Amino acid sequence: MEDYKELVAAAISARKMAYTPYSGFGVGAAVLTKSGKIYKGCNIENAAFTPTNCAERTAFFKAVSEGETEFDCIAIVGGRTGEPVSGLCPPCGVCRQVMMEFCDPAAFRIILGKSPEQWEVFMLRDLLPLGFSKADMEE
Ligand code: THU
Repeated sequence: MEDYKELVAAAISARKMAYTPYSGFGVGAAVLTKSGKIYKGCNIENAAFTPTNCAERTAFFKAVSEGETEFDCIAIVGGRTGEPVSGLCPPCGVCRQVMMEFCDPAAFRIILGKSPEQWEVFMLRDLLPLGFSKADMEE
């Protein structure tokens, strides 16, 4: 099994910046580019609720805005604010769709972490079956 210790640790450190006055649930994500760089993100909530951005999209949008469009995998951790990560935190449907925009669903891995030593690996294909992408508009 590949070692995702560093990536999960980056997601745990990103979660420290989560801005969660409404849900009290903090999420951290760390996306690894094919060029070997790690971009971190946290969830950022808003009083108007719908502008809230998930940790995964924060990480992806930071990377894309810096010119990165090729990704290897992402680590995600979540749990109640002020408490350590507890169970696995699967990405929401909107974040899965953002991954679908930039990643090959048969190759992109989603690592759900509990600690730097404990994680589970999923393929985007399995978390977003029959996902819609720009290829579907070209056929
Ligand atoms: N959240 C994420 O950051 N990522 C997910 O994939 C699931 C949900 C955030 C959004 C909101 O700030 C809080 O978790 C509770 O839904």
